Amino acid sequence: MRKPLIAANWKMYKTPDESLAFLREFLPLVKDHTRDDIAIFPTMSSLAYVIGACKDHHVDVGAQTMHWLNEGPYTGQTSPTMLASIGCDHILLGHSERRIYANETDDMVNWKLKAALAHGLVPIVCVGESLEKRQSGLTEAVLRWQISCALNGIKASIPCSITIAYEPVWAIGTGSSATPAQVGEAHQIIRREVAARLGQECADDTRVIYGGSVKPDNIATFMAEEEIDGALVGGASLDPHSFADIVRYKE
Ligand code: G3P
Repeated sequence: MRKPLIAANWKMYKTPDESLAFLREFLPLVKDHTRDDIAIFPTMSSLAYVIGACKDHHVDVGAQTMHWLNEGPYTGQTSPTMLASIGCDHILLGHSERRIYANETDDMVNWKLKAALAHGLVPIVCVGESLEKRQSGLTEAVLRWQISCALNGIKASIPCSITIAYEPVWAIGTGSSATPAQVGEAHQIIRREVAARLGQECADDTRVIYGGSVKPDNIATFMAEEEIDGALVGGASLDPHSFADIVRYKE
């Protein structure tokens, strides 16, 4: 049985003070919550503060990106060793906003995934198609390509520490989420490709979560779908009560 994960991707929002103010309200709201894993991905400038504030709580903290090398002349980058050294234990990889705005390639996602696993970071690998690709009937081709590239050369492991986040680009930040049926179909495609790469046992153990306009009023419909193992939440995770309502769906 895959334990659900509800994660917040704060993107480029919240200063350290704003992050700590969020946590002062949020952490008491979820202090007895054990049904789901909870993770927060703050900006790099808030990361160490959030790690410190969450260390005695059942809330994991991760970075929104990293380089695949441990050090070097790469201005503005942060390495897996640097993240691990401050207690960061999760990492987002391949988010569509980095693929689009930072020109992150499928190969880079693969190199970063290998580096994350080598440094004991728990990765969430983001995949998803654009509206143009979906309208052209290429959703399956895109998802299979992104998954196969990300997992190239990766060894199967049980339990599988890799989480996949399906985030259709056309549902991110738009307020119009994919339907649970569309998400379930995409997750089946993803799980089939993970099985082809890492074997069925590993695929069955891989969490596949959904991101794209998840809100307190739609989380329960997504979590009712067997194929959906959680959510990666953007806008609705910026308010402590909104994100707590998403974490405590159907409670
Ligand atoms: O990584 C999660 C994010 O891309 C989803 O954003 O605002 O549509 O929940 P949002």
